[in-house]
Amino acid sequence: MSENNIKSNHIALNEWVEKVVELCQPVNVHWCDGSEAENTILCGQMVEGETFIRLNPEKRPNSFLCRSDPRDVARVEDRTFICSVNEADAGPMNNWADPVEMHRTLDGLFSGCMKGRTLYVIPFSMGPIGSPISQIGVELTDSPYVVVNMRIMTRIGAKVLEVLGQDGFFVPCLHSVGQPLGEGQEDVPWPCNPDNRYIVHFPEERSIFSFGSGYGGNALLGKKCLALRIASCMARDEGWLAEHMLILGVKSPKGETTYVSAAFPSACGKTNFAMLIPPDELSDWKISTIGDDIAWIKPGEDGRLYAINPEAGFFGVAPGTSYDTNPNAMDSMLENAIFTNVALTDDGDVWWEEMTTEPPTHLIDWLGNDWTPDCGRVAAHPNSRFTAPAAQCPTIDPAWEDPAGVPISSFIFGGRRMHDVPLVFQALNWSHGVYVGATMGSEMTAAAEGQVGALRSDPMAMLPFCGYHMGDYFKHWLRLGKTLPEPPRIFHVNWFRKNEEGKFLWPGYGENMRVLKWIVERSLDRTGAKETPIGWIPRFSDMDLRGLNITDEQWDELMSLDVKRLKAQTLSHEELFLKLFERLPKELIFERQSLVCRL
Ligand code: GTP
Ligand code: SPV
Ligand code: MN
Repeated sequence: MSENNIKSNHIALNEWVEKVVELCQPVNVHWCDGSEAENTILCGQMVEGETFIRLNPEKRPNSFLCRSDPRDVARVEDRTFICSVNEADAGPMNNWADPVEMHRTLDGLFSGCMKGRTLYVIPFSMGPIGSPISQIGVELTDSPYVVVNMRIMTRIGAKVLEVLGQDGFFVPCLHSVGQPLGEGQEDVPWPCNPDNRYIVHFPEERSIFSFGSGYGGNALLGKKCLALRIASCMARDEGWLAEHMLILGVKSPKGETTYVSAAFPSACGKTNFAMLIPPDELSDWKISTIGDDIAWIKPGEDGRLYAINPEAGFFGVAPGTSYDTNPNAMDSMLENAIFTNVALTDDGDVWWEEMTTEPPTHLIDWLGNDWTPDCGRVAAHPNSRFTAPAAQCPTIDPAWEDPAGVPISSFIFGGRRMHDVPLVFQALNWSHGVYVGATMGSEMTAAAEGQVGALRSDPMAMLPFCGYHMGDYFKHWLRLGKTLPEPPRIFHVNWFRKNEEGKFLWPGYGENMRVLKWIVERSLDRTGAKETPIGWIPRFSDMDLRGLNITDEQWDELMSLDVKRLKAQTLSHEELFLKLFERLPKELIFERQSLVCRL
């Protein structure tokens, strides 16, 4: 690849790159311009190196399959560190390490770690380039896979350097797969260092270091590391919110658009919800997509909250995605897409579980082995993902790149709750809503290493992503609400409730439009509800269930409150509250007491 094809005249950036080159000792330095030509060369090189398999250009133009090392397939939360100066500022939910010691450790790890490799400099913008709410980062990486993914997920290249000028602010993000190449040593398709992974954040320095993994949020540092962990600290300091939320628009038959933002934990349906297609009975309602994973939300001069999607692409869970469940996601990845850890079909296309009702008779699975429907193994890894440009989404909202953002009328929290939580309820007010978000829990998914299915508390879906003390985070939410004349309404949903036979009680996917319609109408004070101890819930008659075969009794089951269970659960929140005790806002203790009384 040609060297130094673009120039930076940013003094601090150039000095930092020089320092990193000296430390990591790459054979080559390449400044990424983000062009099509550069992308073509990098993808071609990865095909040659067997990192990428070019998919059949007739089926999937300009798209590639990538198989990671099977030991490097998800985020590693126990190897993720928040190195604030004071341990207390990281809080009990984060792994803390002393920043001075951690810098020493990292210096050791990064020393010579890029031998035999090219160092890529990726200037990137989270949010539209040049917008006042955007943030610039520069990722230095030895992974071309990271470059081509960052090119889809963020805005990269020469234009970003232009905005940065000589002395603009940027977040330095240093990444290495942690596998240097000896003289003449041949590379492997997915270099990594699974026994020695470090995903490290220095909140005061606003810097990020990642070592040993090439996968997803571990390596695409604009996403969870910058746009959530570091940005949550910036947001706390500057009075805004950086959240693990999708953003969507709901256009009513009258043509009014209402925007809502929803926080569900990883692999709990944000992508699906952000792109949902209403069922036939509600086809006069339209959904538009702003983002599917991260929202930056700022108070505007009119006292409303405005949200932008800092990303430019989707890094979506593949299994379960199909033309039945999410046609818009399927259309977004028709071309210019990267598929990681899915299966390869005999005609050079991709497949994953539930993509089609009938699986193909033969595949090469995510590990590169032959696969047949009766072999007893999954073909795609449960956390396999597609990377696709957001602009290719048929429902992308015309305002998705508006630097001013879109006004948010309601927040939705949700998780995977098999047993207890009803389909939907509305919090009584802002501080009760913050309590609902703070105490939400979800069954763990394959998006992170850990015990899949275990119920854990995941406040506002931010447990793995909040860069500071969770108690301070709740305080920040409560404080922000008080500054708003009419704060957004807050709701909780659960698409995942099952009956005794283990079948989902709610059909989910497009049918979630019915719940969303109630939510939007509640936010505009246009529909009814019934008050219960946990909040307002829709009665059977408040919901538009036309065409759905749901009986009165089934509805009651879906919405039932098991007071005994709820009481037990409320007590279990004590555990979370005790952990956060020193910095837990009193309002939440009060909310808890009122809930216990109501129950
Ligand atoms: P991250 O990208 O990891 O942050 O997650 P996400 O929230 O965007 O996850 P995604 O939308 O990709 O979730 C995918 C999983 O949720 C798949 O297993 C889907 O089958 C499941 N899912 C999504 N929507 C629904 C729904 O309405 N009902 C049910 N039962 N499952 C759903
Ligand atoms: C998540 O795990 O919440 C994701 C995927 O969105 S990753 O970018 O790998 O974190
Ligand atoms: Mn996510």
